[in-house]
Amino acid sequence: MPSFLVVAFFVLLCLGLNNLPALGDAGGGNEYSFVYSGFGGATGASLVLDGTATVTREGVLKLTNDEQANLKGHAFHPTPVQFRDSSSSSSPNNGTAAVRSFSATFVFAIISASTYWSSDGMAFVVSPGKDLSGASSAQYLGLLNSTSDGPGAAASNHVLAVELDTVMNVEFQDIDNNHVGVDVNTLSSVHSRAAAFYDDDTEGGGGGAWKNLTLSSGDAMQVWIDYDGEAKQLNVTLAPIATRGVKPSRPLLSNVTDLSAVLAAQASYVGFSAATGPIPSQHCVLAWSFAVDGPAPPIDFSKVPKLPDDTAGRREALVRELEIALPVAAFVLVLATCVTVVLLVRRHLTYAELREDWEVEFGPHRFAYRELFRATDGFKSKHLLGAGGFGKVFKGVLSKSGTEVAVKRVSHDSTQGLREFISEVVSIGHLRHRNLVQLLGYCRRKGELLLVYDYMPNGSLDKHLHGEDGKPLLEWAQRFQIVKDVASGLFYLHEKWEQVVVHRDVKASNVLLDGGMVAHLGDFGLARLYDHGADLQTTHVVGTTGYMAPELSRTGKASPLTDVFAFGTFLLEVTCGRRPVVDTVRHGRKMLVDRVLEYWRRGSIEETVDSRLRGDYNLDEARMVLTLGLMCSHPFPAERPTMRQVMQYLDGDAPLPELTPAGISLLSLMQSQTSFDQSALQYPWSGTSMGTMTSGISVGR
Ligand SMILES: *[C@@H]1O[C@H](CO)[C@@H](O)[C@H](O)[C@H]1NC(C)=O
Ligand SMILES: *[C@@H]1O[C@H](CO)[C@@H](O)[C@H](O)[C@H]1NC(C)=O
Ligand SMILES: *[C@@H]1O[C@H](CO)[C@@H](O)[C@H](O)[C@H]1NC(C)=O
Ligand SMILES: *[C@@H]1O[C@H](CO)[C@@H](O)[C@H](O)[C@H]1NC(C)=O
Ligand SMILES: *[C@@H]1O[C@H](CO)[C@@H](O)[C@H](O)[C@H]1NC(C)=O
Repeated sequence: MPSFLVVAFFVLLCLGLNNLPALGDAGGGNEYSFVYSGFGGATGASLVLDGTATVTREGVLKLTNDEQANLKGHAFHPTPVQFRDSSSSSSPNNGTAAVRSFSATFVFAIISASTYWSSDGMAFVVSPGKDLSGASSAQYLGLLNSTSDGPGAAASNHVLAVELDTVMNVEFQDIDNNHVGVDVNTLSSVHSRAAAFYDDDTEGGGGGAWKNLTLSSGDAMQVWIDYDGEAKQLNVTLAPIATRGVKPSRPLLSNVTDLSAVLAAQASYVGFSAATGPIPSQHCVLAWSFAVDGPAPPIDFSKVPKLPDDTAGRREALVRELEIALPVAAFVLVLATCVTVVLLVRRHLTYAELREDWEVEFGPHRFAYRELFRATDGFKSKHLLGAGGFGKVFKGVLSKSGTEVAVKRVSHDSTQGLREFISEVVSIGHLRHRNLVQLLGYCRRKGELLLVYDYMPNGSLDKHLHGEDGKPLLEWAQRFQIVKDVASGLFYLHEKWEQVVVHRDVKASNVLLDGGMVAHLGDFGLARLYDHGADLQTTHVVGTTGYMAPELSRTGKASPLTDVFAFGTFLLEVTCGRRPVVDTVRHGRKMLVDRVLEYWRRGSIEETVDSRLRGDYNLDEARMVLTLGLMCSHPFPAERPTMRQVMQYLDGDAPLPELTPAGISLLSLMQSQTSFDQSALQYPWSGTSMGTMTSGISVGR
């Protein structure tokens, strides 16, 4: 046994000797450097890896693989780096010494499973710790999460990252879907530029011609990161691998970036982080070198491994497997008894899926039914999270990545609307926002659509509001934040994405809370699957009583303003802690909006605030939210604010206009009354007392 270990040790040693990372400590102890010209042998073994990060047999550091969506991977050099100059005790920052100059260079490649899109990106990271397991995938690049990147929290991250980002995230003010950015404590880059380089070999104004690069092209590229501690200048340079280590003379980014308040006072770790979103992608590092107080040591390009040519390799492997498997399978089939045939058929039926030609382009978003079946233990009822208008939701754990997901089973018979829905929400992979529930992918079976979403541990908002399942009471500050979160998600759907997305079913039970109680709006666009007939029967299915704008029942046409109406009802529900519609035996149907309007007319709108708060709330905020709720619930669409205005009011960037009782004449209400059809009678503005109707409300603007 011991002799075996000794032999193994020597084998490892010999394998590794060729390219052990050269750790320099020359020149009096201040210098620190290492170089990995490939990660094979013992060199790669010394890296600290987590998530999906692995070192392949060829010596490629593969941070994420393309087997699945939403992965993250990290790799760090094992020993920390002292970025602060400990020798100069006369430091300007009383106690924390100045940040020393440093340089890093690495060769990377991003290989996407899709031809046109990739997600999400990778980053070179300087971090106080090696454990980034609390970080989120997708737009957070495995680096931060919505809490640590949130307002107030970011300054304590002490993280510097140089990101290679292949998705345009509006929430981080990304410039495009192919850029290099410098991130200080947050993923909203302080400096960023489209991926490109200045080619010294060609004429161009002051340092070569500008040439674009495509980060996710699958081609290897080299990055140089140089920080001048004295000038506090950070340069980032990019070049195709063909330059073989010759740095273009003009950097892509060259900015003053003061790191003295950023890097931790103690030593920091250097390494890489990468994450995928809905489109599986491989993020690879082929070589890396680093130095403090000097240029990064040159990479030995003769040792840099070749890129994984996975597609060809996999195909060959498949052919080989088939060559062996086919005769065996035939043999087994011949011998198979009727029983096994029956079992196979039954099994096939269990996992059968529906695929059509048009779905090919959405390939990466397809989940295999088998995978979802396993993730949820065969959709066992103990995994049931809830059942809503559109179907049942199950909690599942994806076996490959261990990711927790929510799987929604929607029964759906036609492909009509489905194609638009899937292409709208899935294909682009861009529809994402911190206040929307991220759709990870889908699967289709006969008569059934399965949608896979991020799992939200704190469940739906209505349970919290109405104290179901023993959920604790939400405080006012939490409610106000949730209102802002939902507004921001809806604003994104209406105005910030490439096309207008009407949610169609805004309500408290469609607002889900994550582990940090951040609100995410779910189920967007789903309602459209049900209303292509647009007859009244189906529009009834789409809306939820109390949230349905009056014009919806007349025209059956959803618009951003019908969403705003529902949002108004939502505001009242959250502030008052009451359901929008209550059917009572004695008084018939009571609408919450009537109640708030009544108190508003008496000048005591605050009396409608949830009494369970026991007066512990911000009066101005609560009044503003209630008034805004009434404005949004206006029976005439043109009188409602847009979500852009709503955001401004909520953020205090614009004063809320006065709500005046005079605006609506009896006549206009009578007119609208006659044009309302039968189903509109349930609507508050026409359904209760004449008093409500005659005074009405209007917004002075
Ligand atoms: C550190 O010293 C500078 C002056 O050199 C002073 O402006 C600053 O307030 C001091 N900071 C702390 C935390 O004492
Ligand atoms: C966010 O990240 C921090 C730091 O890694 C971690 O402590 C926290 O648990 C994470 N929060 C969530 C909601 O995952
Ligand atoms: C380079 O990319 C930018 C956008 O990032 C584009 O506007 C420009 O036309 C591209 N130039 C070339 C030569 O392709
Ligand atoms: C950064 O680039 C500028 C030119 O834009 C150059 O003058 C400076 O020396 C560079 N700094 C480092 C640390 O490479
Ligand atoms: C950062 O540097 C880039 C190019 O070096 C330049 O285009 C950009 O304006 C700089 N940004 C700031 C804020 O100085």
